[in-house]
Amino acid sequence: MEGSKLMKLFENSLKDIYWAEKALVKALTKMARKASSEELVEAIESHLTETEEQVEQVEKVFNLIGKKAVGKKCDAMVGLITEAEGLMEEAEEGAMRDAAIIAAAQKVEHYEISSYGTLSAYSRSLGMDDVTVLLEKILNEERKADETLSGIALTTINIRPTQKIA
Ligand SMILES: [Fe+2]
Ligand SMILES: [Fe+2]
Repeated sequence: MEGSKLMKLFENSLKDIYWAEKALVKALTKMARKASSEELVEAIESHLTETEEQVEQVEKVFNLIGKKAVGKKCDAMVGLITEAEGLMEEAEEGAMRDAAIIAAAQKVEHYEISSYGTLSAYSRSLGMDDVTVLLEKILNEERKADETLSGIALTTINIRPTQKIA
């Protein structure tokens, strides 16, 4: 593909994730408020701080490519956040709601992992080394956040087979 076309794709995807990260700052704040387990609250709050820094890192990427930081509404993130809110409403407070929050938060992380994976592949192929370094750092933070949530699901919330129901 021509470099200019790939650059256009890169820019569109960057606008999408920029909008998504900013929406997540609000969504994660709400999730932390609704969570019960101390470990889960801490994990979400710490990723919230990381997310706020990621917003700035993405702004830095816009800067490096000489473009103004502008977001473009991310329909996928709107859907994921709407689903998360529904799940939190439906689930009874405590372990059940915590499990629902983890499930919803992991879907969000998977979306981010996929988005930053694509962005860093585009950027590598465009030969933008400084940008690739920034994007891969964020990608690793998203992967770690996902792993932390898996760990909490297994240990704190105890999503394990305990008995046969049927
Ligand atoms: Fe993020
Ligand atoms: Fe994230």
